[in-house]
Amino acid sequence: MKAWNWSSTGARHRVQSDPERPLLYVLRDELDLTGTKYGCGEGQCRACTVLLDGAPIRSCITPLSKAQGKQITTIEGLERDGRLHPVQDAFIKADAMQCGYCTPGMIVGSVALLKKNPNPSEADIARELEGHICRCGTYHASSRQCDWPRACRRRPSMLTSKRRSRSRRD
Ligand code: FES
Ligand code: FES
Repeated sequence: MKAWNWSSTGARHRVQSDPERPLLYVLRDELDLTGTKYGCGEGQCRACTVLLDGAPIRSCITPLSKAQGKQITTIEGLERDGRLHPVQDAFIKADAMQCGYCTPGMIVGSVALLKKNPNPSEADIARELEGHICRCGTYHASSRQCDWPRACRRRPSMLTSKRRSRSRRD
């Protein structure tokens, strides 16, 4: 058992766990961050997508040891000062979900795409979203009706500003 320091939702966490334990289990079972979903558990569906220092990873196949000292952003960590991220707003506005199980992964993946490419084409967006398995088949609504690139351009600070650090569980 070891202690690991990392941050999520703007908080710093210190957890004691097996370094080989998948990050997803730590998020959900030890930190109650249940917005990140378990889908396949094999790195195929992307339901478990979170950001590791801004880059998307599949937390079901990422050992806790990889997260030591890094910034982890989960779906819970996207809002700022009580306001949803524009990508979250855009998904809601477009009603781009049915059961919603895949939605956190799609949103976090979309935020990662925007960080890399602030002006993605429709093809770029479709490519990103198609990598996420949606059993309800919401790809069309997600990629065509969600105008999240435009929504984000209206609030560019959401793409670049650093989250304030809060201490919650340290
Ligand atoms: S649960 Fe991680 S990729 Fe499916
Ligand atoms: S909305 Fe149900 S799995 Fe995607």
